[in-house]
Amino acid sequence: MAATPRPATGHERIETNNLLMIVLILVVIAIGGIVEIVPLFFQRSTTQAAPGVQPYTALQLAGRDVYLREGCYNCHSQMIRPLRAETLRYGPYSTAGEFVYDHPFQWGSKRTGPDLHRVGGRYSDDWHRLHLINPRDLVPESNMPAYPWLARNAVDAAALPGHLRALRLAGVPYSDADIEGAAAAVTGKTELDALVAYLQVLGTAVK
Ligand code: HEC
Repeated sequence: MAATPRPATGHERIETNNLLMIVLILVVIAIGGIVEIVPLFFQRSTTQAAPGVQPYTALQLAGRDVYLREGCYNCHSQMIRPLRAETLRYGPYSTAGEFVYDHPFQWGSKRTGPDLHRVGGRYSDDWHRLHLINPRDLVPESNMPAYPWLARNAVDAAALPGHLRALRLAGVPYSDADIEGAAAAVTGKTELDALVAYLQVLGTAVK
C-alpha cells in the first residue's frame, strides 16, 4: 500500500506547481530586465549623440528609407563589435551614441555581406552607383542583388517634411527650417542619389 504523500513545503511547493513556477520565473526575469534596461534610458552614453554625430539630412534620410524598403538589412549589419577581427576589417567598433538619431537602428546580425557601419567614405559615389546598379560589374563573385530601378525612381519629396517632423517628435533635433526645406532638398534626386548619400555618411562621425 502506497504511503500517503506528505504535503509539499517551501521550495518543493514551487517546484511542483507549474503555474506558480512560471509566474515566479517571469517575476525574476522582469527584475533582471529592469535592472539591465532601465538605466540605459538615463545614461549619457546611450542617450546623447556621440561627438560629431549629426541628424541625417533630408536626402540621407530618403536614402535610409530606400535601404529599409529594399531590405538591405537582411544581408548587412551596421554594428561593429569590439573584437580585434572586426575592428581590423571594418574600423573602430560601434558605440551607442552613434545611433541616437536612428529610428529604428539598423544594427542587425545577419552578415551575408560585410558590415556597413563604417562604409561611409570607403568608396567613391561612382563606385556605389555602379555597384548598386549591378554588383557583378565591380565584384564578379558577388551574390548581392542588383537594384537598377533606384536610378530611375525619383525620391518621394512630398513625404519628407512629415518624416522629419515625426523624427523630431522622437527627439531628433530638426529645426523648422530643416522641415520646411526638406522637400526642396530632395527634389529632382533619384533614389540612387539618396541611397548613396546615406551610405557615404555611415559611421563617418567617429574618425
Ligand atoms: C542577398 C544579400 C545582400 C543584399 C540583400 C544586399 N547586399 Fe550588399 N553586399 C552583399 C554581399 C555578399 C557583398 C560583398 C560583395 C560585393 O561587394 O558585392 C555586399 C557588398 C555591399 C557593399 C560594399 C561593402 C564593402 O565594404 O565592400 C555595399 C555598400 C552594399 N553591399 C550595400 C547594399 C545596399 C545599400 C543594399 C540594399 C539596397 C544591399 N547591399 C543589399 C550582399 C547583399
